[in-house]
Amino acid sequence: MSTDAPPDSPSPSPSPEDSRARGRSDARESRRSTVEGGDRHAMLRPGDGPMVIFDGVTKAYGPNAIGLDDLSLSIESGEFIFLVGASGSGKSTFIKLLIKEVDATKGTVSVGGRNVTRMRRGKVPYLRRAIGCVFQDYKLLPGRSVYENVAYALQVTGENPRTIRRKVPEMLALVGLSDKGARLPNELSGGEQQRVSIARAFVNHPRLLIADEPTGNLDPETSIGIMQLLYRINRTGTTVIMATHDRDLVDKMQMRVIELAGGKLIRDQRQARYARAE
Ligand SMILES: Nc1ncnc2c1ncn2[C@@H]1O[C@H](COP(=O)(O)OP(=O)(O)O)[C@@H](O)[C@H]1O
Ligand SMILES: [Mg+2]
Repeated sequence: MSTDAPPDSPSPSPSPEDSRARGRSDARESRRSTVEGGDRHAMLRPGDGPMVIFDGVTKAYGPNAIGLDDLSLSIESGEFIFLVGASGSGKSTFIKLLIKEVDATKGTVSVGGRNVTRMRRGKVPYLRRAIGCVFQDYKLLPGRSVYENVAYALQVTGENPRTIRRKVPEMLALVGLSDKGARLPNELSGGEQQRVSIARAFVNHPRLLIADEPTGNLDPETSIGIMQLLYRINRTGTTVIMATHDRDLVDKMQMRVIELAGGKLIRDQRQARYARAE
């Protein structure tokens, strides 16, 4: 994923630590790197065990600002998860903990068998490259074409130009944008921009893809298309965690629903609807 972007571009925004870590790693190392700088297939495959474990996780932003409150749960490799709850319930905090954009105040977060809580700062760029991220506001590079936005995610991992020329068109075809590679982001609709951001998140074939309100700015029809795309990605074995407010989508899909309120887990239910059944 494209964390290694210039300062004005996609999030999670690169921190100074990221830049320092990048400076230290040579191209060959970064090409093969995932969470621990090891083999890129080190992340778990479906059936290999939990992809995500939260064990007694509290995140306090301040004395009276609780993001998550003693959360424990586990997500198996290959699952599709809806993370639901009102605004302020802790959904984005959950996602930020997974990519170590924030650190737990208490408890342990692990991703792909790695303890993220104890991970050294220098390893964080590799963690983020191993997780595909999709956000409500797309976070595309505004001055670059659709093609270049997707290619960028491969360039930062040191992929060779021939592979990039092969993979980018494949990914644009997957998201239905084969004919729009030369466009700039602002020449696309919101739904199309979100497709580009999904292509960018998935082009490295991460084992885990997280999406924070990916349909938040889209109309219902367009949202269904985005949802179908995430579902197809999940069918390839990728674990997908989607934070959403979108009641209709959740009800249609009938997947596992994890519901937060005030930072606490209030429901964890299989094949569920947005609202708890009466
Ligand atoms: N950077 C921050 N500083 C202080 N409080 C924060 C910060 N980020 C989130 N919070 C608080 O943490 C709680 C959970 O927020 P968040 O995870 O963004 O929820 P959601 O994504 O479900 O809307 C809210 O009460 C919010 O105000
Ligand atoms: Mg949020």
